[in-house]
Amino acid sequence: ADDTQRLLAAVLATARPLARTRAAHKAALLAALQNLPDGYVVAGTVTVNDSLDLLAQFMGVKEQVEALTNQAMDGSLSLERALEERLAIIDCSPADIKRFIAAHPPASRLAPGIKELITALQARGVAVYLISGGFRELTLPIAAYLGIPKSHVFANRMNWQWDDETGAPTKLVGFDMSEPTAHNQGKPQAIARIRQRNPYNTVVMIGDGITDLEAVQMTGGADLFIGYGGVVERPAVAAEAEWYVYDYQALVDSLARYRVAMIGSGAWACAAVRMMAQNTKVDDPADEFVDEIRMWVYEEDYQGRKLTEVINETHENPKYFPGFHLGDNVVAVPSIEEAADGADLIVLCAPHQFIHGICKQLMGKVKPGAAAISLTKGMRVRPEGPQLISQMVRRYLNIDCAVLMGANIATDIGREQLSEAVIGYDNLDHAERFKKLFQRPYFRISLLPDPVGAEMCGTLKNIVALGAGMVDGLGLGPNSKATIIRQGLVEMRRFSRALYPSVREDTFLECCGVGDLVATCYGGRNRLVAEAWTRAQMDGSPRTFEELESELLKGQKLQGVLTSNEVQEILRPAIHPAPCPLRVPSSPILQKRHWEQDYPLFTTINRIINGYLPPKFVVDYEVGCTFSDLAPTEGSDDD
Ligand code: NAD
Ligand code: 13P
Repeated sequence: ADDTQRLLAAVLATARPLARTRAAHKAALLAALQNLPDGYVVAGTVTVNDSLDLLAQFMGVKEQVEALTNQAMDGSLSLERALEERLAIIDCSPADIKRFIAAHPPASRLAPGIKELITALQARGVAVYLISGGFRELTLPIAAYLGIPKSHVFANRMNWQWDDETGAPTKLVGFDMSEPTAHNQGKPQAIARIRQRNPYNTVVMIGDGITDLEAVQMTGGADLFIGYGGVVERPAVAAEAEWYVYDYQALVDSLARYRVAMIGSGAWACAAVRMMAQNTKVDDPADEFVDEIRMWVYEEDYQGRKLTEVINETHENPKYFPGFHLGDNVVAVPSIEEAADGADLIVLCAPHQFIHGICKQLMGKVKPGAAAISLTKGMRVRPEGPQLISQMVRRYLNIDCAVLMGANIATDIGREQLSEAVIGYDNLDHAERFKKLFQRPYFRISLLPDPVGAEMCGTLKNIVALGAGMVDGLGLGPNSKATIIRQGLVEMRRFSRALYPSVREDTFLECCGVGDLVATCYGGRNRLVAEAWTRAQMDGSPRTFEELESELLKGQKLQGVLTSNEVQEILRPAIHPAPCPLRVPSSPILQKRHWEQDYPLFTTINRIINGYLPPKFVVDYEVGCTFSDLAPTEGSDDD
């Protein structure tokens, strides 16, 4: 079958840049495929039989039409004449076409692998077009089945005689000569039209006919050509094609798949890797991810064996996330470089105090162009000022870094209970890719173009959670806790916007703001340890946070105490010069005097955990923040 008579072309295009390689060979094509979604276009034979020939057979005129088809293929009959004469012989009505489509549904006629290829390309953001030398009436059902929009279909249109009485089409009277596909060199013209309307950088044509090949031979047409010989092999096409395939699966297999690395293996890291492993191990042509996820595990002894060995044998992390199967496709590795090697998507989820060391270890070792996302809640305070984890990752690894923040208690997510998170992003493409990586039916993700706001929320709520734990330790009820949560939210917003004025007000109403605050103040580890610490204080048998962290959390880390001290370093430089004086001249808050009082809850919590005030002041924070010249109270951690 020739392109003059069959559905031929799927044209895929993308709006993303790729170096023009008109004289490309297979290597360039392969690179184009593998660098998706950086772009290419394809045109291809999508059915195993020609629609017009099949329609002729359906109408009982197969032989006559085939004879004309062959003449057109020989070049002894022009494309226009061949189409016109074949239509005249077929002489069908709209009702015949309906019956024909019902008798030959698209699924029964598709070339093997074409649906998978188109699905896979569309999932990667590549626009797919269908250019047919046949007729729109016959092509559209196939396009619909392939998920190609009508506006992406180029084909000839049948002309009908219309009944004056009923206003309905009755008799076929030829076809519309104005369509580019009605003429020789119609394909490059169709592609030129596509390019006029869309700023595609690279257009790849897949096809089996000489006129498909023309698409790359004419200025303004496609950039690259892939020959397809799965239905009919044409030596002339095979000889000219830079890449010739007999099976669309070969193209599906060549598409880029993203390799994922998890840096971290604590409770949240394991809950997150479990969701990712479920998403990467799917039998779906739209799957964009390599099945295997390498997870960096800070190596330690677990009951006389290496923790990595135990995880790889049992597919569970018995120390940090017991009772949850992580997935057979998660491989624990003790070397951070090996975990990150070749990864396109790097997920960071370790306690915040370790991230600086991790970044230093990974410097110069990550794949250029990789994208990172931080699940870590916390910040770093340096002499020059505060540094968010995402900023640190960007600076050290020289790659984009989004954040994922929300009310995400690890064990609840392991139990697959409904949870929400936002991905705070600068780069929308990366955020959408990460959304596909994390989203589960029970884990809802929305995209938020305020990465700094989201990260500040995740960081600061850990301080408020300590206050909530104190309220519980004091034996107070929900009204008091609600007061702490409300005031905490006010201070979180004030502090975030003081440091980063571009942070959005609405972010605090998202799941990363008020949502996480509620979850963490009721069910988090910071709350748990602060409650135990407060009770011990009240009982007159004080314990340190370190003791309780190791006793209650069994290796898991508390972030709130460190974060409170870090934030307080920012809040109090004018009163107590920190060991490394802070200088953030652009930040109005640091130029103010007595500004600890602008954050009465943060300040009071910090004074309590450092033993300068007894826990009962948590509900008297307006007073707690006003004292100066405080000495440690009896039984404080400093004792
Ligand atoms: P975790 O507190 O459960 O575990 C501590 C981790 O730190 C372990 O993997 C341990 O191997 C590792 N570790 C110990 N010493 C180390 C060192 N010197 N260098 C590097 N790593 C070391 O961890 P997590 O729950 O995955 O928490 C990671 C981050 O995620 C934190 O910022 C936390 O606030 C945040 N987070 C936690 C939860 C949760 O429910 N656990 C939920 C959301 C966010
Ligand atoms: P904790 O570390 O206090 O458990 O908080 C977990 C968390 O961040 C939930 O979103």
